[in-house]
Amino acid sequence: RRTIPAESGAAAAYAVLVREAAHCTRCDLYKAATRTVFGEGPVEARLMLVGEIPGDMEDRRGRPFVGPAGRLLDRALEEAGVDRSTVYLTNSVKHFKFELTGRRRQHRAPSVSEINACHYWLDRELALVKPRTVVALGGTAARAVFGKPVRVLQVRGKFADLEPGRQAMVTIHPSAILRMPEESMRHQAFETFVSELRLLRNNG
Ligand code: URA
Repeated sequence: RRTIPAESGAAAAYAVLVREAAHCTRCDLYKAATRTVFGEGPVEARLMLVGEIPGDMEDRRGRPFVGPAGRLLDRALEEAGVDRSTVYLTNSVKHFKFELTGRRRQHRAPSVSEINACHYWLDRELALVKPRTVVALGGTAARAVFGKPVRVLQVRGKFADLEPGRQAMVTIHPSAILRMPEESMRHQAFETFVSELRLLRNNG
């Protein structure tokens, strides 16, 4: 008799989820974006990182965190000793939002209604991946994860219980570091970011 591995159920359900999300029309962002940028990573990941919204590069390539913010995140994870390939990475909102300035697609932050509409997918990712630890990168992700506005600078770096068996931590978004005007500020912010990601080595 064939035995079906226990995880195949979750993997199959996940594949269905990704296909469904590809046709999402829960808010209007799908109209101008190229494609849904769904989360990625192992379905059995114990650690989930949640970003804000895909950027131009993510929209083109269909993968989260593959642009400049993603490169900074990769560097920070590596320095913190967290292996990206073991992490499930996703965004609060799964379509790129932009305004055209000339030929440039200028990134825009999602509205609360877009975050709320897209929460459907984050909930389903959480239900399938069942991470023990969820990390919100920045204010948008913190709002999506906690379901209410959160002051990032007040709560960052601390673990809070989301529900039994699941904790969450808020930290800065890597794009916020990139936007800092001075190299010394960026350097300091990067070090703090890494020190918070280091907390995940034992908690993730
Ligand atoms: N910023 C995000 O929040 N997510 C991405 O995927 C890329 C940039």
